[in-house]
Formats: sequence, C-alpha cells, structure tokens
Amino acid sequence: MAAFPPSPRSENISGEKNGSDLIQKTDEIHRETLLNLPTGKGWMTEHLVQYQGFWFSPNGLKNLMWLHDHFNPRPTDIFLASFPKTGTTWLKALVFATVNRTRHGFSDHPLLTNNPHVCFPFLDAYLHEKDPSFLDHDGSPTPRLLSTHAPYALLPDSMTANRRCKFVYIYRDPKDVLVSKWHFLRKLRPQELPPLSLEEAFELFCRGISHNGPFWDHVLGYWKASLELPEKILFLKYEDLKKEPFVAVKRIGEFLGFPFSLEEEREGVVENIVKLCSFENLSSLEVNRTSIHNFSTDILVDNRHFFRKGIVGDSKNYLTAEMMKRLDEITSHKLSGSGLLFHNS
Ligand code: A3P
Repeated sequence: MAAFPPSPRSENISGEKNGSDLIQKTDEIHRETLLNLPTGKGWMTEHLVQYQGFWFSPNGLKNLMWLHDHFNPRPTDIFLASFPKTGTTWLKALVFATVNRTRHGFSDHPLLTNNPHVCFPFLDAYLHEKDPSFLDHDGSPTPRLLSTHAPYALLPDSMTANRRCKFVYIYRDPKDVLVSKWHFLRKLRPQELPPLSLEEAFELFCRGISHNGPFWDHVLGYWKASLELPEKILFLKYEDLKKEPFVAVKRIGEFLGFPFSLEEEREGVVENIVKLCSFENLSSLEVNRTSIHNFSTDILVDNRHFFRKGIVGDSKNYLTAEMMKRLDEITSHKLSGSGLLFHNS
C-alpha cells in the first residue's frame, strides 16, 4: 500500500515549468490530504491529525509527505529513529561522537559548542520549508547522520528497502516518556491555547493521541523490523544506556561499522565519549543553557528544554499509582507476544 498520495513528480503532471511549480503542486496535494483526516486534541498545536493509524501535527505530516517526495537516501546514511522524549538528544550525541571520533578532539569537540540537534539534524523538519535539492548538495560528511520521529510503517521505501542504510532506534518506559513529554510540550504550547493538564495528557497518551503515536505501535513497528533485519536496525533502551553506557557505546560503534580498537579502549576513548555526552556535561554547556534551536519557522526551542532531569523512573513523582498501573497494563497488553519487555530492573 502506498503510504501517501502520489506526488506530482511521480504522476508527471503536465505543465510544470520549474521546481517551484512542482513544490506548489505538491503543497496543494498535501493540503487536500490534510483536510479530510480525523482530528484529535493537540499537545502543542490545537489539533493532531490521524493518518494511517498514527497521529501527527499538520506540519509534521506535511514534512513526512515531503520526505516521501524528495528524499534520496545514500547507502552510507545513518538514521536515528525515536518516539519523542525517549532519549533522542542523548543518542544523537553518542552516535555523532562515536562515528566522528577520528575527526574531532575532545577538547574542541563540536558538541561542546553545538546542540546535538545541530550536529545530527532532523530529517522530518529538514524539508518542509526548503528546496529539497539542498539535501543532495549539503556537503555533510559521510556518513550523513539524519534523524526521524516517523513510525517505521510510514517511512519511504527508499529508506527501509535499502539494506545498506542503518537505523539506530531508542525506546524508553512509556510512563517516563509521558511525563517528559508533558513537561516539554507544556513549555512549547502557545499562550493562546489553554494549558494542558497532566491528567488530560495522560488520557490522550493512553488513547495513542500523541505526536507520532500511539507510542506502543511506534515501538512495535521498529521492534518487528529489527527482528527481521537485525543488521539494519539496532534497538536500544534508554534505561540500558543509563545503566551501562560503555557497553551501549561499544555496541553502537560495532553496529555502525566503527568498532573501537583495543588501543582506543585502552586510551579511554569510550569513556571520553560517555563523559562528553553525559547529561551533566551537555546540560551544563553554555550553548545548551542559553541558545535556541530553530527546527522550522514555527518550532523554536530553548536548548535547555532538551535537558530536564535525565533519570529513570521520574514518572513516579508525577503519576498516581492508578495512572502507573493503567499505563503498565496497556503496555503489557500491547506488547504481549512481541518478545519485547519494559522491565527497568
Ligand atoms: P526527562 O524529561 O525525563 O529528563 P528527547 O531527547 O527524545 O527529547 O528526550 C528527552 C529526555 O532525555 C529528557 O528526559 C532529557 O532530560 C533526557 N536527556 C537529554 N540528554 C540526556 C543525556 N545526555 N543523558 C540522559 N538523559 C538525557
């Protein structure tokens, strides 16, 4: 099944004179698609729209359609995929530092002066407002590091069918994801909209109405794909990274084709990467305390909001015992038979 309506490029609509005509035509098709979709209450925007079982902000879905229309992966590309608030920022830093470790010294490392989202940009937010051809000439070093929050089922075939591009996926206990997300989006929610209470956010999350949600379907999509294509998708858990970051960094290096040599291990390179990317270090950097990240014209985020507590189990400080129980029950029900477990011990 085609994930999205055909773009003008694939339909070969006659009468197009140049790239901007094409972009306009694509835009019209996307707008029409958006008009007829079911809507649900938004966390940061007024509404989310549901498309093929998943929920998106209208612009988020438009970005995804652009990805289908315009993105040409390279076989060497590395994609980081995640549900929002599962540890994306941290994993971006770890992968960037691992893959580029021979390019940059630790004393003047780009992560000391740039937020991880600059070093490892979002593909979903890349295209929507730009001439897509820039991605093919962007001069980024090989391998390109690009990230997405899109569900696996809605990624373009060009990303999933190409066996050489690799994915690293991160997931996390949904109770902590919900609490982290509520804190984050509360700060980004426009003043014109009434505040979103934790109780409302909880109900929406349980019903799956959350950017790129339902959470469980997002995780299961990548989990199943990782079982089928273990050499293509590395499935990581936030809680494991917290517990054994050195093991995780070595696994990431090995999986992505940048294994650590014994000499590097002896010299403490893995430790240096873990230290550089630690919550304590990244959150205390000037760039992450005072600068703003510009995802698109409508999404500007203070870098400090990407770093809140960075711990496991903070949800118990916000959710009632009943809420925790209900989320755990949904999780066991949704994941039953999948072989995926969420135990944190
Ligand atoms: P909390 O809100 O629970 O603190 P994402 O990057 O996907 O948006 O996820 C954000 C979550 O990851 C936040 O969780 C944030 O504090 C945490 N985080 C950010 N950087 C981290 C790091 N270096 N180590 C551990 N957790 C980190």
